[in-house]
Amino acid sequence: PPARPLAGVRLLLTAGPTREPLDPVRFLGNRSSGRMGFALAEALTELGAHVVLVAGPVTLPAPRVAERVDVETALDMHGAVMERAADCDLFVATAAVADYRPMDPAENKIKKNADELTLRLVRNPDILAEVAALDSPPFTVGFAAETDHVEEYARDKLKRKKLDMIAANQVGGTHGGFERAENALTVIWRDGQRELPMMDKTQLARELAQLIVERYQEHHAA
Ligand code: PMT
Repeated sequence: PPARPLAGVRLLLTAGPTREPLDPVRFLGNRSSGRMGFALAEALTELGAHVVLVAGPVTLPAPRVAERVDVETALDMHGAVMERAADCDLFVATAAVADYRPMDPAENKIKKNADELTLRLVRNPDILAEVAALDSPPFTVGFAAETDHVEEYARDKLKRKKLDMIAANQVGGTHGGFERAENALTVIWRDGQRELPMMDKTQLARELAQLIVERYQEHHAA
């Protein structure tokens, strides 16, 4: 029988993009397909974890997880996560959460009267940083999507947000990252690092899940 090292572990995972409404018919979004997060949610389920998946709007087949909560905006995702974060052992933030949202979305469809239109945006809460700052935080794994200086920026996020691990990927290029079936990750923790080369996201998720198990077990043995 397959080993189930995460049996009994309550795990919360975010995946996919968020949508930030401009008016009833338009939104600001991003290129996350949710594939990386869904693959990771399934890999962690296979290892025995009780996975609650908080998913932004994606068009993927239903993943095999214990529970799925669908959300649309960063504020919805923030609410769904903070409601459950105190009762989880492990938190994994795969979602591409919008850092900003339109300040006041229009009640009715915006008409194209003006030649120029200025959008005012306000900051969204940083879900990952907030979870990591809880009084007794879960073991926390973040992602870092960078177009450049990938390792340097990821190390900075690991420290600044007080994470246990971070998985960094290059985005905006011609392969890996958003939308693709394949990805590569640099996984960093306080006293170690591992390169997971370009491969199918399903396999990559299994390898990352193994690394998470190792670090999680070490953390709890300490
Ligand atoms: O969905 P796919 O198409 O498969 O693509 C996968 C992916 C590229 C989206 C994924 O591998 C990835 O990198 N996810 C993180 C994307 C991201 O928004 O990274 P970031 O560097 O902006 O954010 C850093 C971390 O903080 C992330 O763990 C993010 O979930 C979290 N965050 C960010 C902002 C915010 N307001 N709240 C957060 O929790």
